[in-house]
Amino acid sequence: MGMNRTGIQMSPLDSRAMQEVEPAIVSSDGVDERALAELRSDYIANADALGSVPLPGTLTGAVTVGVSMLKGDSPQILLDKLGERLAFERTGTRLYDALITKCDIMLTEDMSMTIDDLEQIRADEARHFLMVADAIESLGGDPTSQTPSADLVGVESMGLVQVLNDPRTTIAQSLHAIVTAELSDKAGWETLVALADEHGLAEMVDSFTQALNEEREHLALTQTWYEEAIGLTYGDVEIDDAASLLQAPE
Ligand SMILES: [Fe+2]
Repeated sequence: MGMNRTGIQMSPLDSRAMQEVEPAIVSSDGVDERALAELRSDYIANADALGSVPLPGTLTGAVTVGVSMLKGDSPQILLDKLGERLAFERTGTRLYDALITKCDIMLTEDMSMTIDDLEQIRADEARHFLMVADAIESLGGDPTSQTPSADLVGVESMGLVQVLNDPRTTIAQSLHAIVTAELSDKAGWETLVALADEHGLAEMVDSFTQALNEEREHLALTQTWYEEAIGLTYGDVEIDDAASLLQAPE
């Protein structure tokens, strides 16, 4: 608890005056909202796409992608999603770097999470990054190019990076952002396994499934650490007590 003055209860007189304003001023006929929506619609209708998947820059690449397209596959979708994983695993590595720096200063003995655990997950993310880069090259793509989905997840994860690098955030708050990243990681690998399977790329299905299992473990671990950090201790909860709380009072 602290000197937070953001709520309306902080100033009863002003808040009463604010609520007594002329009804016309706060009328909900939505004229302004409609004008805003119309303006946005215009932009949406005339907008470019979020970039494109690049054409292969090498002859071997062009042949690989060409053969795949002749077979009726859509290598551009797979390349786009591989670019997405590449971008997100790179960010993931940096998120763990930031968390490790934070834990060097703030981690206390009462948490089961250790810096070694974090170093290990960080190493997994870095290895996944290299695995995806290899996969892109094997399909004739260029891992240094930014695909539309790579751009998308770059924007999505900006908030997570900000949370981790903010010197004021606690370990619990940082873990909240990390859990969000791991949820997204797990979903991303699930999509990638399915896509590789659709393209009949058995080796990729195997290595991506391995990565997916590691991501599942990351999620389970970070979620447990997060709950520990906010003081949840399942060990103390008696099932009978929990059940009686759910029953309506007599
Ligand atoms: Fe992960």
